Formats: sequence, C-alpha cells, structure tokens
Amino acid sequence: MSEKCIAVLTSGGDAPGMNAAVRAVVRSGINRGMRVFGVYRGYNGLLNGDIKEMNLRSVSDIIGNGGTMLYTARSEEFKKKEAQERAADFCRSKGIEGVVVIGGDGSFRGARALTNAGINCIGVPGTIDNDIACSEYTVGFDTAMNTALEMVDRIRDTAQSHDRCSIVEVMGRRCGDIALQTGIATGATAILVPEVDFNIERDVIARIINTQKTGKKHFVIVVAEGVGGVADLAKYIEHRLGIEARATILGHVQRGGSPTLRDRVVASQMGYEAVSLLDKGIGNRVVVMRGGKITNLDINEALEMERVFDTKLYKVAMSISI
Ligand code: ADP
Ligand code: F6P
Repeated sequence: MSEKCIAVLTSGGDAPGMNAAVRAVVRSGINRGMRVFGVYRGYNGLLNGDIKEMNLRSVSDIIGNGGTMLYTARSEEFKKKEAQERAADFCRSKGIEGVVVIGGDGSFRGARALTNAGINCIGVPGTIDNDIACSEYTVGFDTAMNTALEMVDRIRDTAQSHDRCSIVEVMGRRCGDIALQTGIATGATAILVPEVDFNIERDVIARIINTQKTGKKHFVIVVAEGVGGVADLAKYIEHRLGIEARATILGHVQRGGSPTLRDRVVASQMGYEAVSLLDKGIGNRVVVMRGGKITNLDINEALEMERVFDTKLYKVAMSISI
C-alpha cells in the first residue's frame, strides 16, 4: 500500500503561532509515515501548483517565528466552483488525499468547498481576532493580546506623564476580544467593542468625569477596530472636557512577533489533532478548543454557530475601572 499523502496551507490574515501549527502537521504526519506537502500562499498554491514536499528539517527553527513560512493569501479566485474543482484535481494529480487549512472562518468555508470537491480538509483556527464561534481559542490571540498589552502600557506611561487621555485602537473588525482583554489588563477607563451598544456621553465622557472626581488625571480608552473613529474621539474629548487627548492605532504590530508559549502549545496540539483526523480518512471537520480541551466539530455545524461575547467579563471591566 502506498503511503498516505497530505498537505498543509495557511490562509487569510497571518497569526503568530501558524508556524508552530505547520510544524506540528509536518512532524506528526511524517511520524505517522505520511508524505507531507507545504502549499504556498493559501489556496493560490493549489491553483498555481506552488507546493513543496516537506521533511522533518523543513520545519526546524520555526516554532518561535511570527508570520507563516508558507506565506498566506486571500484568494478571490478560489471562491469560484471551477477553481475549487481545479484545486481538487491538482491534489489528486499529486496523490494528496487531505489538506490541513490553518486560518479563520473564511478559510474554513474554502476547506468545506474543497472537501465537497473530493479532498478531505481539516480546519485549524488561526487568527489573532479569536472570532471563530466554534472554538474558545484561536492560534495567535494570546500573542496579539500580549503585544497590545505592552504597547498600551507604553502609551499609558506617556499619558500619565502629561495628564492626558490616550485613545488606542486595537485590531478586531467584528470581535472585541482583543480590546476587552487589553482594556482590562491596562485598567482602561472605557472599552468600546462592536458587540456592545455604546453612547459616547455615558460610556466615555461620564466615566472620565467620574474618575476625575476621585483625583484621576490620565485616562486610557481602548477601542476595537470594528468601532473605529479614534481620531475623532480624541478631538471630541479635548473639546468636551478640555484635556489633551492623543489617538493611536496599533495596527499590524499586533499580527507579528514571536508567538507566546500558549500559542505555540495550542498550535502544536491543534496541528497534531488535524493530522490524526486525516489519518483516519476523516474530513470536513474543524479542530477546536472547547472546555479547555482540543477536540473537533463538523465544519457545517461549526460555521453555523454564533459567537457569544463575554458580557460578564465586560461587566467586570466596567465595575473595576472606576
Ligand atoms: P479568514 O480565513 O482569516 O477568515 P478570509 O475571509 O479572507 O480570511 O478567507 C481566506 C480565504 O479563504 C479567501 O481569500 C478565500 O480564498 C477562501 N474563502 C473564503 N470564503 C470562501 C468561500 N465562501 N468559498 C471558498 N473559499 C472561500
Ligand atoms: O483577522 C485578523 C485581522 O488582523 C483583523 O483584526 C483585521 O481587521 C484584519 O485582519 C486586517 O486585515 P489585512 O490588513 O491583512 O487586510
């Protein structure tokens, strides 16, 4: 019997820890006697034939690196059925029976399409946003939060020296998890996230005034990208309260950097789980963390789930940043 052959790709926005997941897929695949191909630049690699067979040493010294050694891409072309069929044909021509797709929920839709075209795919959640409903955790989230934490701490130092208000935008288009966690960890006076309706007078201005009354002179406001408008908010605070305000958008600094221990370990566990499913001939599943444990779910079920924002944690933040 010929040995089983699988591939691994990274897709969508990169996230620290993707390399650790690629390493786990390659090493655990080879350890099980499989041949493992790396696919370059997301689904584009399957459309352009841009793949390379990996060996144990191909993934040496990458576990601590940010970014992804396989590069990543957003492939519009792959959204078309014809392209999905072509990618599946390419896999068959190389003997590739299964693909591990490391990315966000868009990438999982691609994985479902490729499975429907005949190639078993397993999704591994890799995105800094932690916005995948089916999993408590996504690879990259911890590193991004800790980077944001360090940056906001630095901004806080200078806000304190000048008695200013600093408004900081962190990443998260539809998901306020980075803002919430960073806001709590830096003692932000206000945290604005897309999941919670807010009113600037009540949720920012009144909170600043209340803390001023107890002697506070510098303020940090953390705003998720999906809320935006930090420059306008800074101008409004200056005009409304007469305190100097500065806006900072942290941006892609949050996407890079050496992954934290948590991201390296979870990525390793998830990559291993993905390969064990493909080894059993199982596809159309997503590796997830539930109840702190690594397990897997049907992709259709996973994509239908709605994310639940941690309103209890938000309440905690609002009751102690006073
Ligand atoms: P993320 O995976 O981080 O959510 P995107 O939403 O940009 O990022 O998706 C990454 C890639 O996954 C897309 O560029 C595309 O190649 C593929 N993809 C997304 N949605 C679909 C879909 N409905 N069908 C097929 N492929 C898709
Ligand atoms: O999904 C991760 C993320 O960093 C989001 O927080 C952000 O909105 C988006 O990707 C930015 O994507 P890019 O700049 O790569 O297009």
